[in-house]
Amino acid sequence: MLRGKTAVVTGGSRGIGESIVLKLASMGADVAIIYGSNTALGEDVARRCREKYGVKAVSYRCDVADFETVRQTCGKIKEDFGGVYLLVNNAGITKDGLVATMSEKDFDKVLDTNLKGAFNMIRHLSPLMIRGREGSIINVTSVSGIMGNAGQANYSASKAGLIGLTKSVARDLAPRGIRCNAVAPGFISTDMTANQTENNLLKLIPLGKMGEREDVAQAVAYLAPAKYVTGEVLRVDGGIAM
Ligand code: NAI
Repeated sequence: MLRGKTAVVTGGSRGIGESIVLKLASMGADVAIIYGSNTALGEDVARRCREKYGVKAVSYRCDVADFETVRQTCGKIKEDFGGVYLLVNNAGITKDGLVATMSEKDFDKVLDTNLKGAFNMIRHLSPLMIRGREGSIINVTSVSGIMGNAGQANYSASKAGLIGLTKSVARDLAPRGIRCNAVAPGFISTDMTANQTENNLLKLIPLGKMGEREDVAQAVAYLAPAKYVTGEVLRVDGGIAM
């Protein structure tokens, strides 16, 4: 379904991003994998895409929070792949703490990575999509950005901001044939939530269990080619934020 098209996935070296990369490669997409620091992990995901699905796959180390680094990396992606059809802004971090004691540094770092990082990628790849006259952007937000969450003022603000960004970009780029949607995972089993399974969390989830990385990848696989869907926020949360 995505054969011959290029997908760029940030934070694609592990966790939810890794599952998204493998899902898109299984649909035939060539993949540009952006990761933060662990080169071995990034290279390994790219190698598995090539070997298992026969697609082109290249990994790039890039701090999405840095405007100039993102510009340079998107330039390399353009050289390596030509056009870009799909951008998945998945890279994200948490630095939780009560708002009364949260440091300015921790607030800025989370906003810079999760929200400005997505803007930086859209800013540098959308001209390429506009030239190709088609494109699809998917931002990975969170139920924390819909409901709020104690101890996550920085994270919730960044994820709520991503929802606003999604809707504005959807309106901005619709006349150019480019769609922009978001997926909002609830609690998914990954490194990020490794410490959260022991509290009373499960009781809050109507479906009574944590989600799997594959559940989020499935939502991305639906939205990527969904040609009449834009500005949507698709929850993948076991019903927690309904
Ligand atoms: P993870 O911590 O397992 O992976 C994060 C990925 O982002 C890694 O590949 C890392 O290299 C990359 N990354 C971090 N900072 C970066 C930077 N400055 N530049 C480039 N890449 C960077 O996280 P996980 O759990 O897979 O989460 C992925 C996304 O899903 C995040 O945006 C997260 O906020 C969101 N999410 C996760 C939930 C969960 O339950 N795990 C729930 C709701 C949303």
